[in-house]
Amino acid sequence: QRLAILLSGRGSNMVALVHAVQKGKLRELAEVALVFSNIPEAPGLATAAALGCQTASLPSKGRKRAEYDAEVVKLLNSYRVDYVVLAGFMRILSPTLIRAYAGRILNIHPADTHQHQGLHAYEWAFDNHLPETKITVHLVDEGLDTGPILAQRPVDLRGATTLAEVERRGLAVEHELYADTLACLLAGQLHPTPNP
Ligand code: GRF
Repeated sequence: QRLAILLSGRGSNMVALVHAVQKGKLRELAEVALVFSNIPEAPGLATAAALGCQTASLPSKGRKRAEYDAEVVKLLNSYRVDYVVLAGFMRILSPTLIRAYAGRILNIHPADTHQHQGLHAYEWAFDNHLPETKITVHLVDEGLDTGPILAQRPVDLRGATTLAEVERRGLAVEHELYADTLACLLAGQLHPTPNP
């Protein structure tokens, strides 16, 4: 299956996915058709190019959401993309994009989406002294972090005394969980049901 990975920043999840495609659990299940960003200078885009991926960007600043997303859909179609994988893509998708790839857009959220939606999930876990947080991979629907959950994995936060440490532990779990979940989905082992 052909993946498009969408990012806006650092791209550490993208790197983990590309490695899984090149030499890990996504080998023979997926190829990375495109790494796309709404921010041309996103560091993750340069990293993707250095890893040998096709890259493209369309600046989103000041653009109307539906119009912009229609262009993104055109671009994704031209790369014959099967699945859209959000990896730190800092933009809410419009129905235009969500409907074009209905049930085929995944996101990773660094918290339990039933407990925390939106930005700053690691800060939230740290500030509330949570002993554990949960990384969530879910399908994207028209709400904010509301789509059907595909997989969750706990992160032990006991003894983490800085936000950096919380993030470090969380990202290590993110990187494994995203590739594992995609591998199960593409192998036909996951049958997502909508959230109650
Ligand atoms: C990750 O924490 C991800 O869960 C969230 O945004 C962050 C992106 O990090 N949606 P990176 O760009 O993949 O390093």
